[in-house]
Amino acid sequence: MIENVIQIDLKGAKPFFTDKEYAESVTDALSSFDTLMSSKGRGAEFTGWLNLPSQTDKKLIKEIEKIASEWKMIAEVVVVIGIGGSYLGTKAAIESLSHSFRLQIGNNGWPTIVFAGHNLSGEYMSELMDLLQKRESAAIVISKSGTTTEPAVAFRIIKEHFENKYGKSGAAARIIAVTDSSKGALKSLSDSEGYKTFVIPDDVGGRYSVLTPVGLLPIAVAGFNIREMLDGASRMENLCKKGGADNPAIRYAAARNLLYGNGKKIEILVNYNPKLTFFSEWWKQLFGESEGKEGKGIFPASVNFTTDLHSMGQYIQDGERILFETVLSIGKAERDSMIRANEDNLDGLNYISGKTVEQCNKMAEIGTRLAHIDGGVPNIAISVEKLDEFNLGSLFYFFEFACGISAYMLDINPFDQQGVEDYKKNMFALLDKPGYEELASKLKKRL
Ligand code: PA5
Repeated sequence: MIENVIQIDLKGAKPFFTDKEYAESVTDALSSFDTLMSSKGRGAEFTGWLNLPSQTDKKLIKEIEKIASEWKMIAEVVVVIGIGGSYLGTKAAIESLSHSFRLQIGNNGWPTIVFAGHNLSGEYMSELMDLLQKRESAAIVISKSGTTTEPAVAFRIIKEHFENKYGKSGAAARIIAVTDSSKGALKSLSDSEGYKTFVIPDDVGGRYSVLTPVGLLPIAVAGFNIREMLDGASRMENLCKKGGADNPAIRYAAARNLLYGNGKKIEILVNYNPKLTFFSEWWKQLFGESEGKEGKGIFPASVNFTTDLHSMGQYIQDGERILFETVLSIGKAERDSMIRANEDNLDGLNYISGKTVEQCNKMAEIGTRLAHIDGGVPNIAISVEKLDEFNLGSLFYFFEFACGISAYMLDINPFDQQGVEDYKKNMFALLDKPGYEELASKLKKRL
């Protein structure tokens, strides 16, 4: 038997549906599981991520680790250039695993990872260049298509800076591209400039790519253990692929789709540790871009508690009843702080003296869950033992697998994102890109 690294608790969701409804939804989820596993569903040519944890070549891991230890010696800062699935998994992992005040406390021996190409803010870019002027740097440019505008713009500026600072060949030694094996401008540029490249497999789409060099390379360069991450993902791969009504991905997919069908159109991913803020951003992209199509799909949102109990808590408790919560709960924090007794007790807090901050956090979590259920907000609880590379790897795989099943339950292709193209066409037209003249004139008339 494979030990379950992720626990799913549906007690807080069950008051909102009947056992019969849940059993039917599980039957649907099991049939979507078959579709996913048989590689016969829509977009099946992009299901290579299903096998990544167990099939990642050990040579690739060694090569990535070698680069990480080499760059540790030459770079204070590594810029990861990419957008969407080409950066969110890395950002999620680094934020989850790092000291909250690493930038203020100072160097842990590994390069600081900063991001570029995930927005078109000129101010952000200029400020990044201020940093790169002052620090020894290297860059990882990531784009599956190799043609995405945001990272291409950022890379052009950063490349020029590197070439001015380190010379053409010095720059080439500090730049690695992660892209398609043969297509796209980034691939041809890398070949002509002699950059080292890593390949994003053809059968893995952007938001399912964190366990390819897209995530593994920058996460290793930040000093984290990618072997542990793959081990955690591998444990989940074994478990998820077994199927059955007890499979956590099937239970989660069945519950969330049932709630959606019962009018709960918005799913809020809740955490009680701000280190998970970007894990939620990764999760939102995964589900939003995979399911939000053809006029369907649960809207993925997120909050950080207890922080947002003082902003969004009111709406969640009392606003329109179209929400459900999925609480990502971490069993044991790595560190904790004791609240000690104080003789004067001027703040009236002696009643919790002897308890830790995390114990208070846990009571806030339990109390909030019960209050929200009483307020009409169904609650799914997903917990892992602790926040480390192993559990993060298992969470990445778990949510990808559940997302594939969920989207198939809605009869949606989880692996395309045609809707993202519309803004791009308009932006190209407004930027006078050749070939977009007709659209440009139509748009300009509307301004
Ligand atoms: O999930 C996806 O496919 C997208 O979000 C992409 O990751 C994102 O658009 C970036 O694309 P690319 O890696 O081709 O630059």
